[in-house]
Amino acid sequence: MIKAHQVLLASTLLLCLRAHAQRSAATSAPDPRRPWMNTALGPDQRADLVVQQLTLAEKIQLVHGIGWGPLRAGAPVPSDNNGGAGQILGVPRLGIPSLQEADSAVGIRMAAPESRYATLLPSVLGAAASWDTESAHLYGDVIGRELRAEGYNQSIGGGVDLARDPRNGRLFEYPGEDPVLAGYTVGNVIRGVQDNRILGDIKHYAFNDQETGRTVVDVHLSHKAAHESDLLAFELGIRIGHPASVMCSYNKYDGDWTCENDWLLNHVLKGQWKYPGFVVSDWEATHSTVKAAKAGLDIQMPGEEYFGKPLEQAVEAGTVPQARLDDMVHRLLRSMFAAGVIDHPPTPRTVVDPFKGREDAQHIAEESIVLLKNSRAVLPLNSASVHTIAVIGAHADVGVMSGGGSAQVDAPGGNAISPGQPTQWGSAVYFPSAPLQYIREHAPGARVQFDAGTDPAQAAALAKASDVAIVFADQYMSEGGDAPTLALPGQQDALIAAVAAANPRTVVVLVTGNPVAMPWVGQVAGVVEAWYPGIGGGQAIANLLFGTVNFSAKLPITFAKSEADLPHTRIFGMDYQAVNGGLPEHWVSEAKKVSFPADYSEGVRFGYKWFDSEGKQPLFPFGFGLSYTSYTYGALAVDSALGSATFTLTNSGKCAGTEIAQVYVQLPSASGERFRRLAGWQRVPLEPGESKTVTVSLERLAWASYNESKDGWEWLAGRYTVSVGGSSRDLPLRAEALVR
Ligand code: BGC
Repeated sequence: MIKAHQVLLASTLLLCLRAHAQRSAATSAPDPRRPWMNTALGPDQRADLVVQQLTLAEKIQLVHGIGWGPLRAGAPVPSDNNGGAGQILGVPRLGIPSLQEADSAVGIRMAAPESRYATLLPSVLGAAASWDTESAHLYGDVIGRELRAEGYNQSIGGGVDLARDPRNGRLFEYPGEDPVLAGYTVGNVIRGVQDNRILGDIKHYAFNDQETGRTVVDVHLSHKAAHESDLLAFELGIRIGHPASVMCSYNKYDGDWTCENDWLLNHVLKGQWKYPGFVVSDWEATHSTVKAAKAGLDIQMPGEEYFGKPLEQAVEAGTVPQARLDDMVHRLLRSMFAAGVIDHPPTPRTVVDPFKGREDAQHIAEESIVLLKNSRAVLPLNSASVHTIAVIGAHADVGVMSGGGSAQVDAPGGNAISPGQPTQWGSAVYFPSAPLQYIREHAPGARVQFDAGTDPAQAAALAKASDVAIVFADQYMSEGGDAPTLALPGQQDALIAAVAAANPRTVVVLVTGNPVAMPWVGQVAGVVEAWYPGIGGGQAIANLLFGTVNFSAKLPITFAKSEADLPHTRIFGMDYQAVNGGLPEHWVSEAKKVSFPADYSEGVRFGYKWFDSEGKQPLFPFGFGLSYTSYTYGALAVDSALGSATFTLTNSGKCAGTEIAQVYVQLPSASGERFRRLAGWQRVPLEPGESKTVTVSLERLAWASYNESKDGWEWLAGRYTVSVGGSSRDLPLRAEALVR
C-alpha cells in the first residue's frame, strides 16, 4: 500500500532529480603527478607539501569564508557555491576544492531552496535519550551520506554544549546534561558523518550554554569545574569522533571571547588535547586579527573582516608570524586530506534516499522517545478494546514540530501547517508525519477524532465522550533565545488540565525542545516525552503508544518541578536586550556591545549532580524512563581498577524490552563531592524472563579529578562507591572499590 508520505517523498525525489540534472557536476579527477596526491603519505605530510606551493594570497584566501553568501540576500555567491551556510574558496591550480559547509545539526539545513530534500532526524537530545552509540553513529551517517549526495564536503553540526540550564534555546541540538553521555553521543555522530568522507565538526567551544546575550555573555567558571563538565564533553567527543574542525562560540570565557581565548584554544585544545584540526569561528564570532590568530583561531567565518587583508598585512608586518599562518592553512588542509574530500570529492550527481532516511530517523525516534508516566496501565493502547480515541492539540492531525534557527531543516512540501507559505526564521515548521494518521492506522476499528485544542472546554467534551484522550503539547525552540520559564507555552497547561479532568485515561505526548514543568502530572494517566521526533515521528509515537515497539529511552536531562529548584532561578542577562536599546544582541555594533557575567558558581553541579547534592526531588530524574516490562538487577562485582562493573540483569516482565543499565561512581570522601557521576552504561535487550550477565566498561575520565596546580587529570586514592540501576535515582546495586 502506498502511503501519503511516500507519494510526497517521491514527488520531492523527482524534483531533486530534475535539479541535479541541471547542475554541472564536473569535478576533475585527482592528478597523480601532484606529490601531495600520494595517498601513501599521511595527511600532515600531504598538507605540508601543499603549503609549500601556496602564495601568501592563496594562504589568506584559505583562512576565511566568502561572506554571508546564500544566507543573506544580496551577498555575493561564487559560481561553484553549493548553497550552504559557509564556503572557503579552494585553490583549483593545486587541486584543492572549495570547502562547502552545511549546517546539519539534525539534518541538512537549506536543502529546499536548491530543490533538494534532506531527512529531519530527531533532536540530538533525543538521540542522547537512546543512550545508543550505534544509533548516534547512524544519526551521523544519515547526515554524512546526504551531505555527500548533495555535494557538500563539511558538516558544521556537532553541538555538544551541556544543558547547564534547561531553558537553553538550543538544547534540542545538544545531547543533554552529562559530559560523558554527551561526549559519547556526539563523538559517535561525528564518526558517522566522517565515515562518509565528509569533514565533521564539534561546536560551540565552549560554554555556549545559554542563548540570552550569547554574543556578549562572559562565563565564569573555575578551570577545574570547566574540565570536569563542559570541556569533558568536548574532550570525549574529540577523542571518539576526531572531528575535522572545532567551532568556537559567540560568548566570552574569563573575559576573552572564546574565538580569541588563548587558554581555551592554544592551551587546552591544541596543547593538552593535541588537537590537530582547525578552529573555525562561529558566524561573526571573530573579534580581532592579531589577538585571535595568536590565540589559536584558524579560520574566520563567514567573511574576511579580520582574516582577509588585515591578516595579510599583519603577516607582512610580522605581528602574526608567517609560521602561524602556515599552521592555520596546514590544519585546514590536513583535515581535508584526513577526511578524504581531496581524494574523493563529493559530486552532487546523486540524490538522497528519502525512504532510507525516513526509516533511519524513525528507528532513532523509537529509541529516543521516553515514557515518563504510565499509571493504571493506560498504555499500551489496545486496538481491540479501545473504541473511541480523542487526539487533541499541537497540529497532531498534520505533523510534528521541528526546532528552528540554523538547525532548521526544510519540510518536504513546505511547512505542514501552512503549505505554500515561505518559512520564516523564528516560526515553527511542522513536518508531514501526522500522529493522527498513524494512530488511526493502529486502531482501524476505533473512532479516532481530532480536536485542535484551541478551546479547552470543547476538547474536554470530546475527551469525555472517548475511551482515551491523547493530548499533544509542543514547545518551539530556536537559536538566539531561551525559554523564559519551564512552562509549556500558551494555554497548553490549561488544556491538559481540562482534558484530564474530563477523562482519567488521558495521555500527554510532549513534543518539546526542552524539559517542561508539568503542573497537571498528578491528574493524567500517561506522559510521553517525544522531543522533536523528526520525519518518522508520527509513526514512532504511534508504534510506541500501541506497543508495537517497546519504550527503551531514558532521560539525558533532569526534569525539574519548577525554576525554584534550579541552580539559577533566572537566566543570566534576561534584561540584556533592554540594556542595548531593545535590539537583539546580534545586531548591536561592536563598540556598543555590553557584556554581562554569567557566574556558573554551581561549577559541575548542574542537572542531576545539583539535585542529588542539594537533596532536591526532581519531577523526573536523569536516566529515568519506563517501558512495558520491568527489570531486576543483581550480583554486582567491580574490578579493583574501576575499569568495569559486572552484574546480572533480568527481564522480570511479560514482554521483550531493552534496558539501559547505568553505572554511577561516587568519588572518595576526600573529594568533597556529594553526588554521583555517570561512568558507563549499556543497552541490554532481553526477552521476557531472560537473564544476562552484563559487563559495563567505565570511562576513566568520568571518575577523574582535575588538579589545577598540576594542570592535569588525577585519580584520587581511596574508596569509590559504585552504584548500578535503571536511573540516577533508582540504583539497587552498590559496591565499593578501593583505589590505591
Ligand atoms: C550558529 C552556528 C551555525 C552558524 C552558521 C550561527 O548563528 O550559532 O551554530 O553553524 O550560525 O549558520
